[in-house]
Amino acid sequence: MRLTVLGGGGFRLPLVYRALLADREEGRVGELVLHDVDAARLSAIARVLADQADGVADAPRVTATTDLDEALRGTDFVFSAIRVGGLEGRATDERVALAEGVLGQETVGAGGIAYGLRTVPVALDLARRVAALAPDAWVINFTNPAGLVTEAMSRLLGDRVIGICDSPVGLGRRVARAVGVAADQVDTAWFDYAGLNHLGWLRGVRIAGRDALPELLADPERLTSFEEGRLFGAELIQSLGAVPNEYLHYYYFNRETVAAYRAAERTRGAFLREQQEGFYGVMARPGTPALTTWDRVRAEREATYMAHNREATGARQERDADDLESGGYEKVALALMRAIARDRRTRLILNVRNRGALPGLDADAVVEVPCFADAHGAHPVPVAPLPDHASALVGAVKAVEREVLAAVDGGSRSRAVMAFALHPLVDSVSVARRLVDSYASAHPTLAYLRR
Ligand code: G6P
Ligand code: MN
Repeated sequence: MRLTVLGGGGFRLPLVYRALLADREEGRVGELVLHDVDAARLSAIARVLADQADGVADAPRVTATTDLDEALRGTDFVFSAIRVGGLEGRATDERVALAEGVLGQETVGAGGIAYGLRTVPVALDLARRVAALAPDAWVINFTNPAGLVTEAMSRLLGDRVIGICDSPVGLGRRVARAVGVAADQVDTAWFDYAGLNHLGWLRGVRIAGRDALPELLADPERLTSFEEGRLFGAELIQSLGAVPNEYLHYYYFNRETVAAYRAAERTRGAFLREQQEGFYGVMARPGTPALTTWDRVRAEREATYMAHNREATGARQERDADDLESGGYEKVALALMRAIARDRRTRLILNVRNRGALPGLDADAVVEVPCFADAHGAHPVPVAPLPDHASALVGAVKAVEREVLAAVDGGSRSRAVMAFALHPLVDSVSVARRLVDSYASAHPTLAYLRR
């Protein structure tokens, strides 16, 4: 079986390869094709993979290319993990938004819209190439903003594109641990999680037919023993009656997170730009030990993840050891790929077209809900409606995503303005107009917004 990774020079690729190396079953990936627009990044990552494969019998064969068509032709699975505009673009998105006093995070608020406006046209081009050259391939989308990008691609690829994120699994794992489920039993729990990507709520955790969440909600000490609990505080979680995805911190504590971002020496994007430049820089030197260098940088990236949000709570918070061990994305992606390739029915929380699963959204809206995956793809499981406050937020953000898609479709500046203006975290239409102007002058690729 062949797997093609778009954005194959990306920093997290060794996590995927580590998971591929651990897969000893029949029908596993035998050939990994890395595609990237940047040959230097490809060779840096290829060196890390070579170290990982050292001494492993029948490690998947790795090839790297900057030729997209060659990478796609005849492949079985495509992982799409691109970053349009690089980390420079991410840092710019943050800076422009913060200058207007609004959030510039890459998936939430103004930053997420800007990143979406830059990414969707590229993702659509990729989807067209996949449809032409590998029409039977399954596309697993990691590219952020993942829900929006998956919905854009689904317009060309239908249900053959499936979006993934590790935050719902991570949340589920942490909550399961807090209610005393053993690590190897987490997969037996049923997580009632629903919403959009980076905008969902965990409303129940059924273990052996019983919901363990009410008990957890009643116990403030256990409730604040894990990341989301500490971020939101017991009182809010108890009032909501559900544990929010960590990205909802930007909504429920918008002032504090914007303030923390403004006060920070560097935004997340600016920090990562420097960190990653350093990594790819030393990797260009022949003597650099590839795997150990990569692993050191990876650990630093994990340790600082969402650090500004933790700061915004006012309390000093370190991440738990288990959360520092990356092991999210690649596990979900591999579990999904296996479920499809081996027709092994597997329960996963995925980004798929709604098809009636989450009440209140149309059939084509990409939502993040529990699914069963098998050889025929990912099938969303019908879930209970969200409470009014949550469904209103989801509805508003979905409307914003649709404005982004309309802006891309029509090259429409006014639709782009509406995308910003309708977002719950952008508080004025004048701000929205200025954001469009500033983003357009910062990013030449947004010149398509002409009408
Ligand atoms: C989490 C999120 C992803 C995000 C990743 C890395 O896993 O769910 O969407 O890409 O963290 O975040 P970072 O800030 O390190 O780029
Ligand atoms: Mn994510």
